[in-house]
Amino acid sequence: MRFAVIQALVTLTTLKWVILAAIAGVIVGIPTAVFLLLLDGGIAVVYELPHFYLLIPVGLVGSYFLVSRLAPDAKGHGTEQVIDAIHRRDGNIVLRVIPVKMLATLVTLILGGSAGKEGPSAQIGAGVASGFAGLVGMTKLDKQRFVLCGISAGFSGVFGTPIAGAIFASEVLAIGRFHYNRLLPALIASFVSVFITRNLGVRHLSFDVDYGASGEMSMLLGMVIFGLAIGLLAVVFITVLRQSERLFGRMRLPGSVKALLGGAVLIAVVLATQTTNYIGLGMEIIDLALDGEPYRGIAPFFKMLTTAVTLSAGGSGGILTPIFFIGATAGNLWAQLLELDIAVYSAIGMVSFVAATANTPIAAAFMAIELFGLATGTWAAIAAAVAYLIVGHLSVFPSQIIFHKKTFFMDLEMHDVPLRFSKAGIKRMFSAFFHGYRQERDEPAPPRGISVAESEKVRIDELVKPRAPGRSYYPLSTVPHVPDETAYGQQGGTVVRPGERDIKESIEKLREYVDAASRVCVLTGAGISAECGLPTFRDARTGYWARFDPTQLATPEAFRENPARTWCWYAARRLALQTVEPGEGHRALARLENYVDRVTVVTQNVDGLHSRAGSSRVLDLHGNLLQVRCMKGCRTFHRDEAGPEARDIFTADAAAAFAANHAEEAGDFEHVEVPTCPACGAFLRPDVVWFGEMLPADRLNQAFADTERCDLFLVIGTSAQVQPAASLPVVALEQGVPVVEINPNATPLTEQVTLSIRAAAGEILSSVV
Ligand code: APR
Repeated sequence: MRFAVIQALVTLTTLKWVILAAIAGVIVGIPTAVFLLLLDGGIAVVYELPHFYLLIPVGLVGSYFLVSRLAPDAKGHGTEQVIDAIHRRDGNIVLRVIPVKMLATLVTLILGGSAGKEGPSAQIGAGVASGFAGLVGMTKLDKQRFVLCGISAGFSGVFGTPIAGAIFASEVLAIGRFHYNRLLPALIASFVSVFITRNLGVRHLSFDVDYGASGEMSMLLGMVIFGLAIGLLAVVFITVLRQSERLFGRMRLPGSVKALLGGAVLIAVVLATQTTNYIGLGMEIIDLALDGEPYRGIAPFFKMLTTAVTLSAGGSGGILTPIFFIGATAGNLWAQLLELDIAVYSAIGMVSFVAATANTPIAAAFMAIELFGLATGTWAAIAAAVAYLIVGHLSVFPSQIIFHKKTFFMDLEMHDVPLRFSKAGIKRMFSAFFHGYRQERDEPAPPRGISVAESEKVRIDELVKPRAPGRSYYPLSTVPHVPDETAYGQQGGTVVRPGERDIKESIEKLREYVDAASRVCVLTGAGISAECGLPTFRDARTGYWARFDPTQLATPEAFRENPARTWCWYAARRLALQTVEPGEGHRALARLENYVDRVTVVTQNVDGLHSRAGSSRVLDLHGNLLQVRCMKGCRTFHRDEAGPEARDIFTADAAAAFAANHAEEAGDFEHVEVPTCPACGAFLRPDVVWFGEMLPADRLNQAFADTERCDLFLVIGTSAQVQPAASLPVVALEQGVPVVEINPNATPLTEQVTLSIRAAAGEILSSVV
């Protein structure tokens, strides 16, 4: 029965998404086709005009006015805006972005600006999808998936590569993460969009040159070296983009004048090179390179310049077509220099440059297969994978989340080798590498989810059933620890919130502090994880200590008295952790690392969400919920450690959680066996700090050291009731460092800190970084 119900619902859900995705393919395919046909038509007319390039400034000024006056969200290259909307605004895209993006891109490209046509199509597509999702009242989750269909349909509608389009959409949101749940909708939307655009007369990319890529193993080494070169070229391009944005951003000039200036630079490039090949889309040069015609070596760098200037000076367009141009001409140059097959290396250069700059190696490999055939596609996969690693954590899409760090950074983090550029720091990094990190701390592999075997052991509905609020093991009366409801400024449970203007001013103030800072120290508490669905400790209704008695669960005495009860409670929390993802507050703190020299996150939380969000320097003061250790201290086990011992310890978590959720009496735990240490036979206990226990000295000392050396201190989501963590902000205040508190409720620190913002962590932090 259970199997039949599940199968029926899974099938219905799949069919629902096939239908929705097909709709997305249609409603995105049509405007994409209109946009592309208008673009081709306009270019065909304007480029026939003598000295048409003198119109570039007009295009950039026109685009600037359209975007700045009508839809600022249409700024820059489209895909970036969509990624940002999915990560930070649940996929909400303002509808007027659609026509404005279309018009601004048409005037930019038709009048000679150097940019691409796929970004705008993806943004137009995502905008249409977002509007439709709003119209039919989709949930947040469904809307994010549907908007993602907009990216894949827009991408495929332009290039005619449905698989690559779908994979690109599922891969581009986060580095190191592939959204399998979104693959089918993205695929269907892509195929339908290709069908629609093709039948409406759009000419997709197609190359009829036989790419007889050699099968020699020497090709393997050739691809690795070529991938390395392409990865380094990607670093150059992204740096040029950033520097150009910074340069134009710092100019104290009206936007229209910046646009004129940008136009002048592009005209200068045309006059200096005596060709218009580096402006506009540049499709003829891409075709020429892929046809195996040798082309001027300098091309990639001129295209970098014209594209960076176009997009920084107010022009509107995508970034992928210029990326194709740069990659293909770089491959062309490489083949000329090494007397290799020009067509093959142009093709592989094109897609592996996408893999590096957009962090989408899988989509790049599939694009190579779809456009150039299997032989070239398979080799391209190698060059793409190498280029993807070499570019590190750089990207043409700054809103991309670093979900899983790339190899080098992961190795540093897992072996606790700091990324420091002092003489000693550099020496340490190289020595750690050349010793294979064997001399460094050896951490277990990153956490994994529940295995299929474990999920089959646990009744499916128990995995998703929400707990009835207010239920607990023991009558509250025995718990002397229930917090006073008014302590946090809650009147009858409603949070008191100042006027929007105050919040705006506070955010502005906080931005100033961040801009002025280079080393930030952050203390976080349960409040920052509350936004992910995890309870805090002292909330009067939902807090752990309002529902459970800490003296019976979180003290060494409680464990000695009834180890099974404590073990089951922590097992239930471990299981609950598997269903949550880092929240906006966590992700914003991770992003903050891109803005200042160093961010130290000192957390009282044991959920590991800061590390999962990508923060590279996290001090877990109160331990780690996913780890247990022997009472005698001889062994520690992490839930995601490989090996039979750890597996045996955590396999029973589901059953223990079940006991915790259904126990009525203290005696109800007698049947639960608390695992013991395989080495000494002592009980294993959660590796967290209980009341009355000492904190790990090394982390605490580091926390105080970093606090003493920081120039901005943030206190986020903690009631500041528990020592010694609550002293850290005071130490910072004593150093004369600005201390900013973010908490919807007042705390004992509120009167002392430099700025206290009464709002939720995610909302404030995401407005600052
Ligand atoms: N954003 C910011 N702050 C929030 C949010 C939010 N979205 N939601 C709630 N808060 C605030 C609450 O107002 C409260 O002040 O988070 C704080 C949570 O306080 P606690 O429940 O006490 O949690 P915490 O400060 O982390 O507890 C410290 O106590 O029980 C021990 O070891 C446990 O680490 C824990 C320590």
